[in-house]
Amino acid sequence: MTPNPRTRTPLPKRTVSIIGTGSHLPERVLTNAELEKLVDTTDEWITTRTGIKERRIAADGETTSDMAANAARAAMEDAGISADEIDLIILATITPDFFMPSTACVVQTKIGATRAACFDISAACSGFLYAIEIAQQFITSHTFNTILVIGADKLSSIVNWKDRNTCVLFGDGAGAAILRHRAHGHGVIATRMGSNGGLADLLQVPGGGSACPITAANVGQDLQFIRMEGRETFKHAVTNMVDSARKVLDDAGLQSSDLACVIPHQANLRIISAVAERLEVPLDRVMVNLDRYGNTSAAAVAIALDEANRTGRMKVGDYVLLVVFGGGMTWASSVIQW
Ligand code: ACO
Repeated sequence: MTPNPRTRTPLPKRTVSIIGTGSHLPERVLTNAELEKLVDTTDEWITTRTGIKERRIAADGETTSDMAANAARAAMEDAGISADEIDLIILATITPDFFMPSTACVVQTKIGATRAACFDISAACSGFLYAIEIAQQFITSHTFNTILVIGADKLSSIVNWKDRNTCVLFGDGAGAAILRHRAHGHGVIATRMGSNGGLADLLQVPGGGSACPITAANVGQDLQFIRMEGRETFKHAVTNMVDSARKVLDDAGLQSSDLACVIPHQANLRIISAVAERLEVPLDRVMVNLDRYGNTSAAAVAIALDEANRTGRMKVGDYVLLVVFGGGMTWASSVIQW
């Protein structure tokens, strides 16, 4: 009789490496000067309060899955694998193409990953690192070998373009990574995830879900758009990113001085600077691209990781810290040996 693989003796844990990265940014650039014409704001206010100069906006008809599929293709090319090698697609987003099917399933068809199982996760700006952690668990447990992880968001579809408190902050994009066991390679050393649902009101999209469907009666109340208490969110972002980073460094047995590169969530340059200062990491070791892309939610850290990879900011063997924060509230961090 063939033994049931699910009851066999546990196999040893495996190293999980990122073997390829990719990203996609829409062509359309929306500058601060253009936003001055939309709402009561200035380039000076946006630049000094956030560090953002411009962001990308998806074209009419360009969906979250379109951006995600392009990022996935770039990651597959970087990894040197074909779509039929992918066992699982995990896609993190708060702007899915549909409630059903999952955007991961839509991407599966677009890239031809016919063998893959697919699902989406919702952890706002923390989604990509949550998905990395989930992928790592599937690979170390020998359930899957090759996993495509994507962070993709089309925030322009849920931004209130009349609200200056939020519309200047966000952009569209997608980033992807291929994770696989690599026998003698480097990989993900430690990960941490955390949440505090008690702070959910600080950052939310109140309408459109089952709690508050958009109806003819409430359609004009802007319930389908992002709402944020910026100042409070800022404080929790700094506190939780620093705490999570310190814990994951401790788990990895490393000091911040061991890090060659820190890749933080790209929400606000002042948040990034405060986190770097508290971790005692010089800013020249911190990846920043929010000046060009704004906050792309689940895509932000994935796009920054791809840029760091392609511009040679990380050498083989370097220790890299990724740390994120977002709606939920949620946060996560990972230490990777590149
Ligand atoms: N242009 C001009 N003035 C503005 C603008 C704008 N675009 N937006 C707000 N203001 C005004 C406010 O009305 C306020 O005016 P008042 O003092 O007369 O009331 C003043 O500027 C200061 O507002 P604050 O909210 O205190 O400004 P702050 O310095 O906190 O910056 C910001 C706001 C940029 C939103 C910041 O708080 C922030 O970055 N917060 C965190 C964002 C974040 O990390 N989000 C998490 C992830 S997002 C996700 O998960 C999808």
